[in-house]
Amino acid sequence: MKIALDGPSGAGKSTVAKALAKKLGIIYVDTGALYRTVGLYVKNQGVAKDDEEKVIALLPQINLGMEFINGEQIVTLNGVNVGDTIRTGEIAMYASRVSAIPEVRTFLLETQRKIARENSVVMDGRDIGTVILPDAEVKIFMFASAEARAERRYKELIAKGENCTLESVLEDIKTRDHNDSTRKTAPAVPAEDAVMLDNSSLDIDGTVNAVIEIIKSKVEL
Ligand code: DC
Repeated sequence: MKIALDGPSGAGKSTVAKALAKKLGIIYVDTGALYRTVGLYVKNQGVAKDDEEKVIALLPQINLGMEFINGEQIVTLNGVNVGDTIRTGEIAMYASRVSAIPEVRTFLLETQRKIARENSVVMDGRDIGTVILPDAEVKIFMFASAEARAERRYKELIAKGENCTLESVLEDIKTRDHNDSTRKTAPAVPAEDAVMLDNSSLDIDGTVNAVIEIIKSKVEL
């Protein structure tokens, strides 16, 4: 079974997908981690995130690995587990910029498709239902207002000890929304056959339940 869970940054896709994967006994694939890892490498090489030519020139140096240990996704960059180093606001911005480069998307395409060929997955991202798994049995586009998403993300970052303000997080979310939804290649837009789910006023459990109802309406669980 393939479940495509797309939507903008901070809609709670990863939290919901994790809970869902556990409930259904399938693998949760976080595709944003791959773009973040490319962003991390670009930053570590001292290349500007909007210098397309230089970013493209770095791709052959990147060996990306993805494995699952006890259901947890491990991403390796040239053999080293990137861990939480990709979970910062700065790397999110790098990811958002480099993900607009078609060569970067092509570079990561097969890694994503291969996992879905070999496993039942719930895969979260921006273009899973439109580009990566157009034949997914279930496609959900999950979203919430920018303000609701900023508040959630702000709480997460503060809990992790990052230094930020609600205003700066909201600003970052709006910038990333704009980058992600207006880029030419694989913009973050719903697939035609995706079910839209606005979770602005739902908590995690409420969202997971809503997602399960959508899945039940599409496939037999
Ligand atoms: O989901 P995330 O915040 O970890 O994603 C980081 C960035 O990567 C996001 O700004 C857009 C990009 N991305 C993408 O273009 N396509 C995906 N399938 C997943 C993420």
